[in-house]
Amino acid sequence: MQLKENFSLKKYNTFKIDAYAKYFAEFSSADSLSDILTVKKNSKKMILGGGSNILFIKNFDGLILKNAIPGIDVTGDDDEHVYIKVGAGVNWHEFVMYCVSRNIGGVENLSLIPGNTGASPMQNIGAYGVEIKDVFHELEAMHLEENSVQTFKNADCRFGYRDSIFKKKYKDQFAILNVTFRLQKKPAYNISYGAIEDELKKMNVENLSIKAISDAVIKIRKSKLPDPELIGNAGSFFKNPEVRVNQLHQLTQIEPGIPSFKINDDAFKIPAGWLIEQCGWKGYKKGDAGCYDKQALVLVNYGKATGKEIYNLSEEIKISVKEKFVIALETEVNII
Ligand code: FAD
Ligand code: EPU
Repeated sequence: MQLKENFSLKKYNTFKIDAYAKYFAEFSSADSLSDILTVKKNSKKMILGGGSNILFIKNFDGLILKNAIPGIDVTGDDDEHVYIKVGAGVNWHEFVMYCVSRNIGGVENLSLIPGNTGASPMQNIGAYGVEIKDVFHELEAMHLEENSVQTFKNADCRFGYRDSIFKKKYKDQFAILNVTFRLQKKPAYNISYGAIEDELKKMNVENLSIKAISDAVIKIRKSKLPDPELIGNAGSFFKNPEVRVNQLHQLTQIEPGIPSFKINDDAFKIPAGWLIEQCGWKGYKKGDAGCYDKQALVLVNYGKATGKEIYNLSEEIKISVKEKFVIALETEVNII
């Protein structure tokens, strides 16, 4: 494994921030990771996937380890399910396409999410009514200090909305090596998320299929989210906040049109994109840092913005949402 020094990360993060890592190396097996961990025992470390959920606000004074572990393997099946083990370095959408092309169900609603499979459990990626916790079976991860490999089952990961144990108690402690998914042989279609049904109608789909759902999701995503190849971004910058029922009633008095989605009898989710738009940020641009004009929840780098400029904009947005709605937005993107 080649250890690089003073390495530009610009091509390794979808915000296209030109930050530098003191050291950088790529690993494609558990053994090669173990070797480098032994050599660089005392360095600060970070595991990098596709760089699509991070914002570098300064140079990284340590070792960045880019995960490139390959492999998509069927490891077992039963009457209803097929178990597929995926290397952490496999591009997520490539894995989704592997399933879609074989009519294996469960991840079609998660089409076109950028990044690598190894990062998918970190924040329990989700879209269009599905989260990976719904299809997750287990993962193997290496402890970065002890070099030992541990298995985590679904319940061990403590999955929540854009959350897992790897973002909390075990933050920066493990490198996820592979993830095994439990997928459906006979797909159970999930088109309850409003926009999918509308898109399928527009596409004149008569016979519902995994491929049709995947195509619909891809179309919707392309219509509102910026392509990181063209405009730097990391998807939703903030989480959608949850409020209690009495807080929602108070908000409705001030803003009768406020959209909300019921989670349970006492909890509702409010789209952060709506809150940010109401505060006047949608389409805002200061230098090269901006708030995307088709989706206010996405902050963008139009070219040469620094991580700090994007971060400062995010803080201004947080303050204005807090002032207008008394809601504290929580950042989804990992600030490094
Ligand atoms: P990175 O950005 O490289 O890393 C993210 C975090 O995980 C970092 O803290 C990193 O240290 C850690 N990490 C990465 N790999 C490993 C590993 N193998 N072991 C241990 N730690 C690791 N997310 C959604 O949930 N739903 C969406 O619909 C969605 N849409 C998006 C749309 C766009 C246009 C973009 C740019 C992003 C979107 N995202 C979405 C966010 C992002 O795609 C996901 O969070 C994705 O899982 C990040 O994967 P990555 O490999 O790029 O992770
Ligand atoms: N909205 C606005 N203005 C905007 C954007 C959104 O008013 O500029 C309102 C609209 O009412 C819209 C609602 O927000 O109906 C929801 O918008 P959208 O369907 O685009 O979804 P979202 O809540 O903004 C979430 C996820 C996305 C995921 C989509 C689809 C979070 C933080 N974001 O976005 O995930 O793809 O739903 O399921 O939960 C990501 O995590 O990076 C990400 C892109």
